[in-house]
Amino acid sequence: METDRIVLSVSDVRYEIAGRLLLDGLDLSVGAGESVAITGPSGSGKSTLLMCLLGLVRPQGGRIVVAGVDITRLRERALNRHRRDHMGMVFQFGELLPELTPLENTALAALLSGVPRRTAYADAEELLTTLGVPLGGTPTAELSGGERQRTAVARALINRPSLVLADEPTGALDGSTRDEVARMLFSVPRQWGCGLVVVTHDPAIAGRSDRHLHLSRGRLNDAGTALPGTGSTAGGAIR
Ligand SMILES: Nc1ncnc2c1ncn2[C@@H]1O[C@H](COP(=O)(O)OP(=O)(O)O)[C@@H](O)[C@H]1O
Ligand SMILES: [Mg+2]
Repeated sequence: METDRIVLSVSDVRYEIAGRLLLDGLDLSVGAGESVAITGPSGSGKSTLLMCLLGLVRPQGGRIVVAGVDITRLRERALNRHRRDHMGMVFQFGELLPELTPLENTALAALLSGVPRRTAYADAEELLTTLGVPLGGTPTAELSGGERQRTAVARALINRPSLVLADEPTGALDGSTRDEVARMLFSVPRQWGCGLVVVTHDPAIAGRSDRHLHLSRGRLNDAGTALPGTGSTAGGAIR
């Protein structure tokens, strides 16, 4: 596994909203080829953290370096370009365009990045095939939940990002589909060499990651692998 190249480096990030200090000196570092799962109580700021990493929310303090660039210092236009070129995002409900096919949804993300039409469609087709999404003319709205999330992952990957973020990507799926999508998602960093940060409330999903962190009181701590109350944890420290 290639983890020597750091694709995300968050240091001392502070974010306060509505009188609540959600992120309080938060640190996180993710290498290429590495997956990190983040769990935490509802309302602890997990989605807010991802919004900060995407540059959609600006923290009041700290640094967020994505693919070598501190995004907290970028102006709007450069930030949008950096996000488009280096980050992919998977949402809980896919957030795809329902009337477009998976191929169109995926290719669209490449077209918006200025990739020529033929290349965009060829890349999208290859990616969807690799991820196991049928290539018919079916609108995305009519696909199964699992196929929709696979399409969402394809869209996140189409521009070969350094960093993929996912917010409760399996939260709307049930049983076996959830496992199958989680397995596919966690294979992404090794296969595409990107870093992956997945927010989830499902310990089984988090257990598939290289590193499982827990957000509480505005900071990330090693969630460990020990049962509660045993007092010991396993796994690496936050780098
Ligand atoms: N723009 C905002 N204005 C006021 N409160 C907000 C705003 N954004 C987030 N919050 C609050 O911050 C807390 C954390 O939200 P969120 O990041 O969505 O948590 P999580 O994803 O861990 O459930 C919640 O209590 C939420 O209501
Ligand atoms: Mg959330």
